[in-house]
Amino acid sequence: MVGRWTGRGSRGASPSRRGRARILRTQHQSSVRARTLSHSSNSTSSASAILRIVADRSEGERLAADEIESLLKAKPDAALGLATGGTMTGLYDELSRRHAAGRVSFARAKGFNLDEYLGLAPADPRSFAAYMRASLLERVDFAPGAARLPRGDAPDAGAESKGWEEAIAAAGGIDLQLLGIGRNGHIGFNEPGSARDSRTRVVELDDTTRADAAAGFGSLELVPRQAITAGVATILDSRRILLLAFGRSKASIVRRMLRGPVGPECPASWLQGIGHALVVVDREAAAEL
Ligand code: F6R
Repeated sequence: MVGRWTGRGSRGASPSRRGRARILRTQHQSSVRARTLSHSSNSTSSASAILRIVADRSEGERLAADEIESLLKAKPDAALGLATGGTMTGLYDELSRRHAAGRVSFARAKGFNLDEYLGLAPADPRSFAAYMRASLLERVDFAPGAARLPRGDAPDAGAESKGWEEAIAAAGGIDLQLLGIGRNGHIGFNEPGSARDSRTRVVELDDTTRADAAAGFGSLELVPRQAITAGVATILDSRRILLLAFGRSKASIVRRMLRGPVGPECPASWLQGIGHALVVVDREAAAEL
């Protein structure tokens, strides 16, 4: 069925399987535009991300929560790729509500967060670990230690990064990876310049990324300069990818992600060729499409 996201897709679809996003509008909207806008020269190729434009962020959050709820019902021990940031807070609220209502359980699930600031211990209130505890982990029923983040205070960040890849592999791979998008096109902390085949590693944070984080740290100078992030390949290997973007401030990068050239200048553009990726944007974030 055209444009219906089944969530099925080959793991690690190659960049040669590039297409452009098919566009779906939700039922409340009058028009349905669903198409594969281009095909690569590979005749077996028709992979392309699916774009779903929703009325507002709460509709997007419900849709994302539906995906996670269905996955956990079908596969209670699923491995979830989790993200932080403002985009995710409403989704985590929705999942917490559904958990409280007995609709969804994380008791057998595993969680792997995308990234953490280098140098911050999990107890640091500015860490992504602290964000995750407050936003989701203390509100639902993950088993102790089952939802993890890279350790920002690891004594050997290289070993931590290698171990992260091994832990994901040992869990059987990520079943569903949640993503936000930075204003510079980053996914995780894969900043512009990140290679398609990059893996979990230490990265230098871009100026835009640090500026966007400054409020949470009190000033730009206090924002860490480095982070550990899952790589582009680590992310794209996931069985399903669900990227959320809400608000007018994301409109121009959403356009670059879906309509711009595919390549390291906008790491999120690698999703164009990923048939098992669903991009959910509200009307404001879709304003430049
Ligand atoms: C967070 C992450 C980042 C954010 C992105 C968007 O774990 O990996 O890529 O998803 O910076 O952040 P918000 O949602 O705050 O706009």
